[in-house]
Order: sequence, then structure tokens, then C-alpha cells
Amino acid sequence: MCGIVGCIGNKEAMSYLISGLHRLEYRGYDSAGVVTVNDKGATLLRAKGKVAELEYLTSKNISKDIVGIGHTRWATHGEPSELNAHPHKAGDIYLVHNGIIENYKELRSELKKHKFSSQTDTEVLAALIDSFYSDDTELVDAVTQALQLTVGTYGIAVVSVRNPEEIVVARAGSPLIIGIGSDETYIASDASALIGYTTQAIYLNDGEIAICRRDGVKLRNLAAQPISARVETIEIDMQAIQKQGYDHFLLKEICEQPQTLRSTLSGRVNVEDCLVKLGGLNLTTEELKNIEHVTIIGCGTAYYAGLLGSYYLEQLVDGLTVDVAMASELRYRSFHLPKNTVALVISQSGETADTLACLRELKQRGVKTLGIINAVGSTIAREVDGGVYVHAGPEISVASTKAFTSQAVTITMFGVQVAQAKGARAKDVSKFIEELDRLPSEIESVITKYKERVAAIAKRYAHYEHAIFFGRDTLYPVALEGALKLKEISYIQAEGFAAGELKHGPIALVDNAFFEVALILDNWLFDKSLSALAEVNARGGHIIAITNSKKEIDAEEVLFIDTELDLLAPIVLNIAQQLFAYYVTLAKGYDVDQPRNLAKSVTVE
Ligand code: F6R
Repeated sequence: MCGIVGCIGNKEAMSYLISGLHRLEYRGYDSAGVVTVNDKGATLLRAKGKVAELEYLTSKNISKDIVGIGHTRWATHGEPSELNAHPHKAGDIYLVHNGIIENYKELRSELKKHKFSSQTDTEVLAALIDSFYSDDTELVDAVTQALQLTVGTYGIAVVSVRNPEEIVVARAGSPLIIGIGSDETYIASDASALIGYTTQAIYLNDGEIAICRRDGVKLRNLAAQPISARVETIEIDMQAIQKQGYDHFLLKEICEQPQTLRSTLSGRVNVEDCLVKLGGLNLTTEELKNIEHVTIIGCGTAYYAGLLGSYYLEQLVDGLTVDVAMASELRYRSFHLPKNTVALVISQSGETADTLACLRELKQRGVKTLGIINAVGSTIAREVDGGVYVHAGPEISVASTKAFTSQAVTITMFGVQVAQAKGARAKDVSKFIEELDRLPSEIESVITKYKERVAAIAKRYAHYEHAIFFGRDTLYPVALEGALKLKEISYIQAEGFAAGELKHGPIALVDNAFFEVALILDNWLFDKSLSALAEVNARGGHIIAITNSKKEIDAEEVLFIDTELDLLAPIVLNIAQQLFAYYVTLAKGYDVDQPRNLAKSVTVE
């Protein structure tokens, strides 16, 4: 949420700033701004809308400065507008900020000297820093004093025309990375902005402040004590952040799932020996054996992947109890967990504020936490006791797709490993292992075989205003995920329900403004699923059935997905739903990758 970039080196900063902002645009795209500084002044440019609008301004106002910072915004305080866009100026300093300053109202009322021009909490922080920035004060000291009075979350970058030799950055709750180049230093709130510029980076921790100069970086804490820097290598290649011939990142990310899933499974599933081994759990076989309860937390799609995973854990591990909670809810509940609980913390970005807060709460209660995370080096990945990277590669499209698939699969692998630690024999888990192994090629064939047909169906239903998705058992979380995907990018109001729940209320909605997506597996619940379908049909529903069954199904459209998988078939059916949401949105002409009001990586509460 909000992207930050910065650069100090020996060549014009603007080129990196604009390239970095384009790459970080998925983190917020309602306005953008840059400032470059030299000892005579600054070039401040801000624009409402996308980075392209800002880029246009930079082509008219050429800056050759070698120091600058930039920002792409997802509005929290104040509407998207040029005035509310970052950087914010106070005196000689300019500030970009990701996060929320919670005590900004009190601070603002005390900052009488500054004439505020925006509604943002960020300008308050800029004014606060400026209030400490006297002629004989170092910028870093002014920033430190201001942050000592600040309550909330931030990732910030500050520059000053009084000292254009440095950028001061600090972090509490919002990610910041410092890229170390050969003769320049870069700032980014997300590693993707650094690809092609450097592979060496320092991931700032909460409570750390860095003074970034062209030739090096000095770290200290809020008490002004020096800290030694830990330089890490970024392992993302350029192709992973490019569209590679696809029209949209979303389509690319849906279509690359066979490969990303192979990376998720690679070296972890051994079909011959019927074994799963996840490195990084930091749990002995004895500790795995002793797990009695698993609590799964996540938000949005990650939560739905957790919910699907919970069904698999229950199927796999005899006697294990599992619960799944939305992190945004659990963190405020007076919850109680049984002894020998392990928490699975699911997050694509590894930065989601609610999930992070929940993780910290769980750790405080002494619960062992395991991350199922995509973004390498992210905050959650660094704070969990152990865990597994899902290795799905960068997800650029705001709507999460490939992460869901890899998360559900990783929870399943975890289930197999726990089951085996508890004494399950090969034959008890072999079906899961075989299906895990076959899943990438099954997904591949679904995408190849059904893409056109899904596109045709999507075109036919794109004019509807409302949709209901329903499924039973493992297809219930898939229905929830299908509805989320559709609503967030096509703006069709879509809700997911457990098929058995329709008759308890939601079926009252069925009318001609609705279509319904019925998810049906050819298993022991087939007949039960048909009853729900019949009930909707009886009320004039417009049903699209997505199924792996060849049996007759009475629906307006039947999308038969030919898959030999059984247990993991829900993951395969979900691929069709992802394509459906994509093609509906395409038909409606909306921005597929950057839907309105949203942003990737929700680092605010
Ligand atoms: C939906 C979507 C969101 C995220 C949610 C959690 O397509 O992308 O619902 O799944 O914000 O994000 P992560 O997984 O980064 O914690």
C-alpha cells in the first residue's frame, strides 16, 4: 500500500524514480509525486491519477538532480488529489510516507507555525520534522526527534535542500529496502523496484533509521545508537516482473501457475518414497507429532486458501483440530487456543498489517508460528518462528491468483508431513502425494483447453449486476474465492455461499439481475450439490455449473472440466473461476490489474 522510491548517486535520479514508481504502482495508484533536490532548491512534481500522469509532468520539467524521492499513493487521509499527493513539504524538507500517523490530529494542533495545504497525516509528520530541523541540527536528528513523538506506522524517506547529500529513511510497520549500487544508493518499499539496478539490499527493521549516501549507508535506532547493516541478496529476475507478451499481469499470473506451482512443490514432494519434507519449519519430528491443533490466519484470498487448506488438514491428520480466522478479526477477539497449537500465517506479500498484528499477538501468547509466505524477506517471513516460502514469484496484479494455488498446496504438503510425523503410512497419504505431483500439468491442460470457452461464457454473463457462487465442502472456500475475484476486478456484486446455506436466506436474492456459479464435484456429495442447484433452478436462476462431472447437470451453461484429480480438483476448478473473472472484466473494459479503490499489499489496518 503506497510505493516509495528514492535514489542518490552520480546520475539523474528521475530515471530511477519514474521506473521504480511504475513498478510499484500496483501498491497504490490514485496519485503520484517526486521531488529531486540540489543545494539551490527542489523540483517537486505531483499528479492525481496514475504514474503516467506524473511521467508526463517530468517530461515537461526536466530535472538533472542526482538525489530524489518518489511516491505512489493509496489514499487513507484525504481524497486522491494533487495537494494530498506525496512528497509533502515543510520548510526545507520533503517527505514521502507509507502507513498511518495515528496521533496526527494532536500533533497538527500543536504545529501552529506550519501552514497546512493538505488533509494528510503525512504533512503533519513533515511539519513535525521541520520543527526540529534548526540550522545546527542534522536531518537525521530532526527525523529521530519527530519519530519519537509519532504514534502509528510508517515507512518514510526524507530529503532536504539544506543537505542534498543524503536521504534519511525510517521504518515502523511499513516495509523499506535500501539497495546498494556500485556508486549509488536506492530506496524502495518493495524489492521489485530494485531489479536491474542492484541485487544487494538492506531490509530495514522496525525502529531503524538509515542515513543513505551515494557511497554508503549508516543505520541507527530511535535512541540514535548505531546498528550494523545486514546486506542480503535479492533473487528476483527481471522476467518475473514483466508481462512477457501477455496483455495483463493477471492473465500472465493465471497462466504461469503450472510453473509457479512446480516451484512450490520442487524438492518438497517425493512421489517415489511417498514423502513430503518442508525445510524451514524449524520443528522436529517429535514437535510435529505433538501438534494437536492448527490455527490458520490470513486475509482475503490468503484466508480462503487457509480455509481450503483446513479441509485438507482435517482429511489428512487423524484427530487434528483446525480453525481458520480472518486476521483482521482474530486480533481483536478474546480467543483461546488449546495447548500444542501451531499457527499457520498465510500471506502473499508478507506485509499485511492485520496478519502481522495477529502474528505478533500469537507469538506473545507463546504459540509457535509458521509462515506460508510468497514475498521473500518480507516482514512476516522474518518474524515467524519458521515457515515455508511458496515460491510463486512476484504477484503484480492486485488480484491474487497464483498465490492462492500455491498457498493451498503448501498447507496440504504441511498436512502430509504432520500426518507422517504422527505415523501415517504411505498408503494413507499416497493419493494426496500423487495428486500434488500431477496438479501442475492438470492446471496446464485446463488453461489450454478451456481458456476460449471460459472467455465466451464470461462475455455472455458480463452484463449482470450480481452473482452468487456456491459449493459444498472443499468447494465452499473456492466459491468464496471465486466471488471475491469477480467482485474485486469486475465490480459485479458477487457473494460466495456454502451450497447448503442457500435455502437459509441467500436464495431469496435469486432473480433476473443475478447469475449463479454452481461448483460441483463428482464425489459423494454430488447428489446433495444437485439439490441446491435444483432449488436455484426452480426460482428461475441463471446457473453456470463448473464441474468435473460428466453426469447430466441442469444449468444454463455447464463448464465441464476434464480432470483426473479428485481431492485437489477444487484447486483445478478455481483456475476456471480465475479465468472467468479475468474475461468478464475484459468484456466490461475495466482495468484488470489495478482495480479501483484497491492496492496490493495492505500495510494499513
Ligand atoms: C484478493 C487479494 C486480497 C489479498 C489480501 C491478503 O485478490 O489479493 O484479498 O489476498 O489482502 O494479502 P496477503 O496475502 O498479501 O496477506
